[in-house]
Amino acid sequence: MTAAAAWQQLEAEGRRLERRHLRELFATEPDRFDRLHRVFADRLLVDVSKQRIDAQALAALWAFARARDVGGAIARLFAGAHVNVTEDRPALHMALRARPEDRFLADGEDATAAVWAVRRRMEAFVDAVHAGEVRGATGERLTDVVHIGIGGSELGPRAVCRALAPWGELRLRPHFVANVDPQALALVLRACDPARTLVVVVSKTFTTQETMANARAARRWLVERLGEAAVAHHFVAVSSALERVRAFGIPEDRSFGFRAWVGGRFSLWGPVGLVIALAYGNRAFAELLEGARAMDQHVRTAPLEDNLAVLLALVELWNRDVLGLPTRVVVPYDSTLADLVFHLQQLEMESNGKSVTVAGEPVGRPTVPVVWGSPGTDGQHAYFQMLHQGTDVVPVEILVAAQSRVADDGRHRMLVANALAQAEALAFGREDAEAIKEMERAGLAPEVIARLLPHRRFAGNRPSTVLLVRRFDPWTLGALLALYEHKVAVLGALWGINSFDQFGVELGKQLAGRLLEELAGRLQPERHDSSTNGLMAMVRRWGGDGEG
Ligand code: F6P
Repeated sequence: MTAAAAWQQLEAEGRRLERRHLRELFATEPDRFDRLHRVFADRLLVDVSKQRIDAQALAALWAFARARDVGGAIARLFAGAHVNVTEDRPALHMALRARPEDRFLADGEDATAAVWAVRRRMEAFVDAVHAGEVRGATGERLTDVVHIGIGGSELGPRAVCRALAPWGELRLRPHFVANVDPQALALVLRACDPARTLVVVVSKTFTTQETMANARAARRWLVERLGEAAVAHHFVAVSSALERVRAFGIPEDRSFGFRAWVGGRFSLWGPVGLVIALAYGNRAFAELLEGARAMDQHVRTAPLEDNLAVLLALVELWNRDVLGLPTRVVVPYDSTLADLVFHLQQLEMESNGKSVTVAGEPVGRPTVPVVWGSPGTDGQHAYFQMLHQGTDVVPVEILVAAQSRVADDGRHRMLVANALAQAEALAFGREDAEAIKEMERAGLAPEVIARLLPHRRFAGNRPSTVLLVRRFDPWTLGALLALYEHKVAVLGALWGINSFDQFGVELGKQLAGRLLEELAGRLQPERHDSSTNGLMAMVRRWGGDGEG
């Protein structure tokens, strides 16, 4: 079947299901859950039965995936084809979590061997820090690690470090600085003793304005307190531009490189994740990678119908393009997964926030939805009102673990109950008769009931996916994060776009460079539009001259 015919079929399925309520779908399909959930490695269950699809629609989605040659796209990704067509290179982040015997080739180079050469150095460094063999300039043991990086060079490691907080023994306290706002670094450094602090500067390009400015500021902070010679003891760099690292003054034995075929938002598995290993040990880091590798193998080998990445991608395509829903909310029922949402925002929106195909033609249909969210149950007391009764329908993605990672007095059960209750309430809502009965029981007069009924109505039919894990251990977390990465790549194939470049971030960076020069007085103010001129004039008036 051609992609166009498969798409027409999908649209027809959309029209067929438009008027069908989830209540009806569940009532008429007794095996709905059985058909519409999948279990991975006895540790992760993905339930899409509360999505507004049925077996027939799913078959049409699989047909579309076949017509778009999703299987071929997955095979090409793993084979190291130049899937990043605009930058003419592979996207081989899976090699970062490969075992030594796994084979990945990047333009003829043994990618696994290249990865392991760095991985062994990383592990030795982490062990040496933990053993107290690597110490600060004054001979003190290192107790804190300040990770300086932004975007993909920060969001993944930060999300993982926060998520692993209840897990292993904390070896070094991790801190993260991304924002160029001077307060970000100042507040972190205020809590750190320079003699006990390791600074890890992470930047693929080693040119990113915010990261380099923060790295220079951290260097000044250290040199003022411990002298120039301390830099070699307290700074480590992670980059694929090692000559720039050297120019910054960080020696080779304190630099960890990675190849250009690792995209920033896919990079947490390599030396970019050094902070994870420093904080929780090589073992936890290795388990994270093993979980991701297991997911790689699943995505690479599972048939389309059982492939979790394909399933999640197709559900997203259905919601976004067939039902026309513009956002998706991610609600982890785990307070330590709060930063996962930020990581997913970059992973999904930087990857698939594109409007042209790999051939440069308009995509012709909406691509990535806005991804937003925050942990439950907090979100329930903020925006869930809108999810249940607002005018926009927002697909909800709920993540929850059956087991708690800390001693539990019953509150974890509350968390689980809330997670599942929300999915149930969103899907089924409440019939008017039930609402009326409840108000009658509360003794309300019939005219009050009639007046309140529209306000107390829960229409339901609001779709959700539940990702239920046994527990959020490093292995499962790794598998989950890799699943999202593959979902992104599958969606890229479905839309025919390049998920691995990010030219959209460049214009703002260039203009900021120009405005910075003007604010610093190094360039004459240029005539911009009247709004920018007006704002710049007020910044000069209120903020004073110069860079500060
Ligand atoms: O925001 C754009 C971006 O290029 C991201 O893709 C990247 O993760 C981030 O900046 C940081 O880049 P670098 O690692 O080169 O400092």
